[in-house]
Amino acid sequence: MSKPIGIFVAWPYANGRLHLGHIAGAYLPADIFARFNRLSGNRVLMVSGSDAHGTPITLKAREENCTPYDVVARYHATFLQGWKNLGITFDLFTHTHTDNHISVVQDFFRTLHQQDDLEVRSSEQFYDIEAGMFLPDRYVTGECPKCGNQRARGDQCEQCGATFETAELKNPRSLISDSTPELRETEHYFFRMDKYEAALHEFVEKQEHWRPHVKNYTMAALRDGLKSRPITRDIDWGVPVPVAGWENKVIYVWFDAVIGYYSAALEWAEMEEGRSSAPWWTESAGRGYYFIGKDNVPFHSVIWPIELLAYGHGLQLPYDVPANQFLNIDGEKFSTSRGLAVWLDDVLEQFDPDAVRYYLASIFPESKDSNFTWKGFVQRNNGELVAAWGNLVNRVLGFAVSRYDSQVPEPGLLSERDEALLSDTQAVFARVTTEYELVNLREALRLAFEAVREVNRYLDEKAPWHEFKTDPKAAGTTIYCALQAIDTLKMALAPVLPFSSQKIHEYLGYSGSLWGEQEIVRRDAAVPYDVLVYRPSIDALNGDASVGRSIWQVSDLPSGQTLLKPAPLFKLIDEEAVLAQAGE
Ligand code: MF3
Ligand code: ZN
Repeated sequence: MSKPIGIFVAWPYANGRLHLGHIAGAYLPADIFARFNRLSGNRVLMVSGSDAHGTPITLKAREENCTPYDVVARYHATFLQGWKNLGITFDLFTHTHTDNHISVVQDFFRTLHQQDDLEVRSSEQFYDIEAGMFLPDRYVTGECPKCGNQRARGDQCEQCGATFETAELKNPRSLISDSTPELRETEHYFFRMDKYEAALHEFVEKQEHWRPHVKNYTMAALRDGLKSRPITRDIDWGVPVPVAGWENKVIYVWFDAVIGYYSAALEWAEMEEGRSSAPWWTESAGRGYYFIGKDNVPFHSVIWPIELLAYGHGLQLPYDVPANQFLNIDGEKFSTSRGLAVWLDDVLEQFDPDAVRYYLASIFPESKDSNFTWKGFVQRNNGELVAAWGNLVNRVLGFAVSRYDSQVPEPGLLSERDEALLSDTQAVFARVTTEYELVNLREALRLAFEAVREVNRYLDEKAPWHEFKTDPKAAGTTIYCALQAIDTLKMALAPVLPFSSQKIHEYLGYSGSLWGEQEIVRRDAAVPYDVLVYRPSIDALNGDASVGRSIWQVSDLPSGQTLLKPAPLFKLIDEEAVLAQAGE
């Protein structure tokens, strides 16, 4: 059965480069899940875009003496290239400064306004006397009122995940002038989230499949009670507040950005199908999965669902929020502001995308923080990808090409050992499928790789290269079984290793493609902009984009199928050179 699967991925602020912490936290898990679902015949929509608003952007523009839009345009272009090079297959990657997005956000705002979910209150905000402006949250740093972290920002603490009123921050300091700001009165629209608290509580309580850290955090936030929160700001960059007299203020960036999950689906539907409905949002069978880092949990498990409950229009609440913990680098947190990071574009200049994807997926911080090391990267690449998987494929295919006339050999009677290999591989495939479905991606990869090792053991035992000299028919049976296993494991690994799996698919003599095409497309709007789109392969569509066809299955490679001479799939990495370069 083909299900609408919405894959919604955190919108990166367009004010800096992407690093491997971002990739392991959200983008790669989302892509693996999307690819798995597409192979399974589900109707996938994976969307995100550049988060164009908010003070992170204005701060950067101020630093660089240009307009906020200049900043957005520059980093947005690098994001599109990064996704393309790493193979992150967004059906649409857009940004939040489009006319479409702005009008959808304003529609949310008006709807809430009309039904009395918003109220004007005056509140105290930090005002920087030296700079002569109200300080948005990001421009203020100080001590977290909950955990004492000295580097809390504005109304949010990255260390403990708490959100609070700006005025609760202790020992505040302005990031613009480094002076101590004072609290001043200003008027804002406050969102009465308490009106929807009970409904959200009832919903979250039932979510048995949510990761414990996400569910616990959300239940605790609901137990504390949801206070009204200001959703407008005193800055001049963002979505204008659609109320007369409020021209100097904009809608809060977080209120605006999360709406992108919906507005991007509308943009995609209009662009690709010329219509304005989005089944991922409105069909009850539709499931929305939110791929984010743990610092984004409050916005996706509390604020966004409350916005959806308030807005109504039959939009679906999140089916799952499989937030990841943090990826550390040599035990320390990745940090763009402190320049402590491994940058995606640098890595892709040196290494193949599948090598990067493999290592990151093997250390995804799904249940706890994990640690990136260059040594780990090299060892996994050389010891696992090259030695265990790449060599297996090349040895078996190469042997079949040279000794069996480039054909899948005709098997004789299968021995118990042969049968065991085939049935074990199939059993692993079923377990891998379940883990992918549950978004336990690291476990899916681990299981698939265990099966790779098992095929190697089988070949070591049977040694068809020797057997061939005395009994080519028996050796052919072994090669036949090994090829079946390789074909099944190629599929099991395809979501993680899309590029090399496609090659293996071709070496095994299949025509057609597991994947579609990624393309950067110019959108013709008042201010033209580029987006990245993914067009699924015709093979996966069965001629109709709304009805998927599953090609997620174990091998049924026919004997006699013509094989291609394989080239090496992965490259050995020089450990010493990499470690010297990284200073590890
Ligand atoms: N821009 C935010 C960040 O980089 C994430 C926004 S996710 C969204 O942390 F849902 F709000 F879009
Ligand atoms: Zn804290």
